[in-house]
Amino acid sequence: MASREDVIRMLQADMRDEHGALILYLQHAFMMGEGEEAAEIEGAARDEMRHFRWLAQAITQLGGVPTLDRTEMELGGTEVQEWMLRDVRAEEDAIAAYEQHRDAIDDPRIKALIGRILTDERAHLDLFRSLNEETAAESGAGEEEGEEKPAAMDGEAAAVLDYATRHEYTVVLQYLFHSFMTPDDEASREWETVAINEMQHLGWFGEMAAEAGRFPLFAREMVHKGEDTKDMLDADLSAERAVAAAYAQHAERFRDSPDHADLVEILERAGENEEFHIHMFGLMAERAAAEQAPHQRPGVGATQPSRDGDASESEPAPKEPPSATSTDSPGFTVGSLKDSH
Ligand SMILES: [Fe+2]
Ligand SMILES: [Fe+2]
Ligand SMILES: [Fe+2]
Ligand SMILES: [Fe+2]
Repeated sequence: MASREDVIRMLQADMRDEHGALILYLQHAFMMGEGEEAAEIEGAARDEMRHFRWLAQAITQLGGVPTLDRTEMELGGTEVQEWMLRDVRAEEDAIAAYEQHRDAIDDPRIKALIGRILTDERAHLDLFRSLNEETAAESGAGEEEGEEKPAAMDGEAAAVLDYATRHEYTVVLQYLFHSFMTPDDEASREWETVAINEMQHLGWFGEMAAEAGRFPLFAREMVHKGEDTKDMLDADLSAERAVAAAYAQHAERFRDSPDHADLVEILERAGENEEFHIHMFGLMAERAAAEQAPHQRPGVGATQPSRDGDASESEPAPKEPPSATSTDSPGFTVGSLKDSH
């Protein structure tokens, strides 16, 4: 049956598909704007993000590295029905792939994880099928009237939205990756909380872009992957300082323009959150520095290179799967997944 490397490869492929589906659904939710359907689709996107995280946990526990690559899915189009059909197909493909992987994998914990994910994917398939039927019925009943014309947006504001969606998407991935890789459980949870907050920001800016008739950009900058907890936090702190300054500056520039009141409001709201992230990452960095000093906490030794002693300029220690220190409590069984929520 499948070797450990094969299992890691399968789970990495699943991660790429989850990432692709997540972006696909977010795009559709943003384009559909407010309303019940958009909220349901956004809910499915949130489930995919949870799957993405569970798969990453399983991969690190097997000693592999989670991937941030994504399966490219077709993102264009203007018709809701076309989008829903695409979403139905994405779910059908996901179900087929997961069933195949579940059959090929022996490890009962991973089989259970995939089984749990499959429950969600089947619910998503039902959701998209019924949304597809609804939209088909609506378009059969004649053209929707009162279609809202997107409000025009000037180039300067559009550039700010492009910057913001790109930044937010990048940090969602970066902070999730850091939460997957750190051996420090508390830091991992804190990173995840910030990542979820950035996802909200992505929603605010993405929806505003879509309202103005722009496709939110799902391009990202380089994600800083980091070597150890301290190094990752340094990178995250500079990302937060840069974006907090940029948002403040843009808010200031548009402050006296009534046309940009909504944009200013979002920039300020996100900016306040970014200030809080600076504060949180600062505290985490202090803690990481204290823990790297002479004594080490039990259980993190293998992944935290010691500061003092022989090889201060040596290569970072190879990542050990966290399971090496916690074999009795796998983090990716169905039970513990539920606890984490
Ligand atoms: Fe999923
Ligand atoms: Fe799904
Ligand atoms: Fe943000
Ligand atoms: Fe932030």
